[in-house]
Amino acid sequence: MSPVTSSFDLVPPFNVKNDRLYIGESDSVKLAEKYGTPLFVISGDRFEDNVNEYANSFRKLGISKEKFIIAYAAKANTNLSLLRFAKKMGLGCDVSYANELYAAFDSGISPKKIFFNGNAKKQDALLTAIELGVMINVDNLTELNDLTHLTKSGKKARISIRVNPETSVNTDPAIATGVANSKFGLNFKLAEKAYELARSSNLGIEGMNMHLGSQITNLKVFEEGARKLVDFAKYIEKKLGIEFRYLNFGGGLGISYAKSKAEEGKVQDAYKERLLERRPNLYCSISKTDYVRTLTNSCSSIKHDFTLVIEPGRSIVGDAGILLGRVKNVKQANPLQVSLDIGANLVLVSILWKEHNNIVVANKAGREPENVVRFVGNLCYSGDVVSPLYWSMPQMERGDIVAVLDMGAYHWFHACRGNSVELPASVMVYKNKDYLIRERESYEDVFKKDLVVDL
Ligand SMILES: Cc1ncc(COP(=O)(O)O)c(C=O)c1O
Repeated sequence: MSPVTSSFDLVPPFNVKNDRLYIGESDSVKLAEKYGTPLFVISGDRFEDNVNEYANSFRKLGISKEKFIIAYAAKANTNLSLLRFAKKMGLGCDVSYANELYAAFDSGISPKKIFFNGNAKKQDALLTAIELGVMINVDNLTELNDLTHLTKSGKKARISIRVNPETSVNTDPAIATGVANSKFGLNFKLAEKAYELARSSNLGIEGMNMHLGSQITNLKVFEEGARKLVDFAKYIEKKLGIEFRYLNFGGGLGISYAKSKAEEGKVQDAYKERLLERRPNLYCSISKTDYVRTLTNSCSSIKHDFTLVIEPGRSIVGDAGILLGRVKNVKQANPLQVSLDIGANLVLVSILWKEHNNIVVANKAGREPENVVRFVGNLCYSGDVVSPLYWSMPQMERGDIVAVLDMGAYHWFHACRGNSVELPASVMVYKNKDYLIRERESYEDVFKKDLVVDL
């Protein structure tokens, strides 16, 4: 089997100095020693650079800051410090569950910039959203009916209808949402009905929204989806005699888990050799500027004032995060088996959705590979691996620190407590200072909600 090798084509501020992985001037090995492992580390500088790239793309196209909203998709990585950081940068927030809504609001994000998604929202969360004046991205006709009742005698709800443009999306089916028969949103026929119903109730129709899927690496997908949304928006505006104040194109821009087309090819070959299904889109060549330009171009035929909204998650936080783990032992096997103190419970997305994360030995970064190894986790089942691939690595020893890269998005979402493990701590590194932003769980935390009943 051909093993893959670590790629040191790192995104700044990640870099290698003296054979060690650094985040700016912060030594990742020292962070592992200071806070323990497993440890999520988020680079605030990378997060900020990604946001600035989006914001500058809008500005360069002459769109003033009142006319666009970058609503950070909280689900990608929800942490109260991260949400405060997002607020500080002027971001809005896409929330998809009651607690995300409350967390975004409690973090000071203006309700006017919060967009409430989800196909099965709780009634009390809907009531809160109405009260706060948050935009509700209505997913279905039942929800619309609920909103009609909830607002009968009270405050008007601000609503947008989530349309499904039924576009083909080149990503894993689990994260393709703008496709026919998706569980999200309404096709154009049902969406038209929703707008008609909304019009005859106490609902403030303010927008139209969609979300095509995640880790999209083909600009044509965005082009087609945006064109369909804009055409449909213009049709509804004409039919109902209204003007949408918000057009929301969702998120979905991919990131480069493989840093070049060639690296993507090598990883895909390695998957194929292991008879594993390959992931089509590990490399994303679309710049944020190209993406933003595509969306704004598609809106050029709209002649009235409106605000363009995007809901990026992965492309803001994905390459900002790494996961550090420690080698517990190296077992003689073919290939060598390196047991880490990380389990598959922290890399589930990679395994479920066949994503691929580059792995480097943080205390031996840049050293020549000597052995082929398999990284296995600390949980009690054979499928518990940290990567399904085999890796060419330098000599590995107990105590080495392993860094799994591009772990900022969706890994916290899927993290679970197999074997009653404690969920790890998270640290944010910003301008070369490190901040603990989530404590490691304790034994007590893990069992806090269990009730002991003597039967
Ligand atoms: C409605 C909605 N908006 C935005 C996002 C963020 O997508 P991404 O992280 O791919 O940018 C998602 C995630 O799937 C979503 O469901």
